[in-house]
Amino acid sequence: MVDAFGAAGPRHWKGRRARSRTEEWVKSIIEDVRKDTYSEEKGSALYEMSFHKELNGRQLDAQMASVELINVLRPIVAIATFIVFAAVAVHEYPEVKHQLQSGSPEYLEMFAQEVRRHYPFGPFLGARARKNFTWKEAEITEGMLVLLDMYGTNHDERLWSSPNEFRPERFKDWDGRLFEFIPQGGGDPAKGHRCPGEGITVEIMKASINFLVNSLDYNVPVQNLSFSLARMPSLPESGFVMDNIRRK
Ligand code: HEM
Repeated sequence: MVDAFGAAGPRHWKGRRARSRTEEWVKSIIEDVRKDTYSEEKGSALYEMSFHKELNGRQLDAQMASVELINVLRPIVAIATFIVFAAVAVHEYPEVKHQLQSGSPEYLEMFAQEVRRHYPFGPFLGARARKNFTWKEAEITEGMLVLLDMYGTNHDERLWSSPNEFRPERFKDWDGRLFEFIPQGGGDPAKGHRCPGEGITVEIMKASINFLVNSLDYNVPVQNLSFSLARMPSLPESGFVMDNIRRK
């Protein structure tokens, strides 16, 4: 499902089939939770979604509850893409690894942000214009496909100095400009097309990076770590293959 994001052709249809299969599977679990044939702790996402009531007091139908639960789980799985790119960065910039091993929480945060800036998840986002409008002399007409160049914005030299260098320090005292750093959409998440899950994304990345550099030793065999800026979501050609993994 995550891999089909932005895909056309067979990859898209494979994702659609995976989505239907998962919806049916999760729906059956929700029905079991409701019948108490599957015991689940109050407060878990599964429990809360199973018994969630709409404003009119009615329980969500099991199909909708399933879709909503998957809407929480799917983006959490998607964070794996940024974690893979974080592993690539640790490998490609060994000097950064020493800083991460120092255990500084500020550096860990800056590193996670620089991974989200430097590497693409979805290089771009597409949307259809709902009405005619003019934006900076560009005439947009209703129904037109408009692309937001996320990777290009995160590498625009008018916004970022030496944008192609991997430099976590650029996020020291960073003032959080909402339209310039857009790895998960732009603007205010409460009003615009920015992901409300950015905080969760960064926290999961930080925990994973910390585990990778401070709890594991591993070798990285020769592989192809190049990635495409036309694929959504993007990933290194080889994935990130590790071998001889040891606990520290
Ligand atoms: C790789 C990580 C992620 C990426 C790249 C990502 C990207 C995005 C983008 C670009 C949007 C805006 C879509 C639009 O309005 O056009 C969005 C919306 C959303 N994201 Fe994320 N996201 C990620 C992780 C998460 C996580 C971890 C959660 C929460 C568990 C989450 C929850 C949401 C929700 C609920 C929306 C819809 C907001 C709304 O329309 O009101 N996302 N995401």
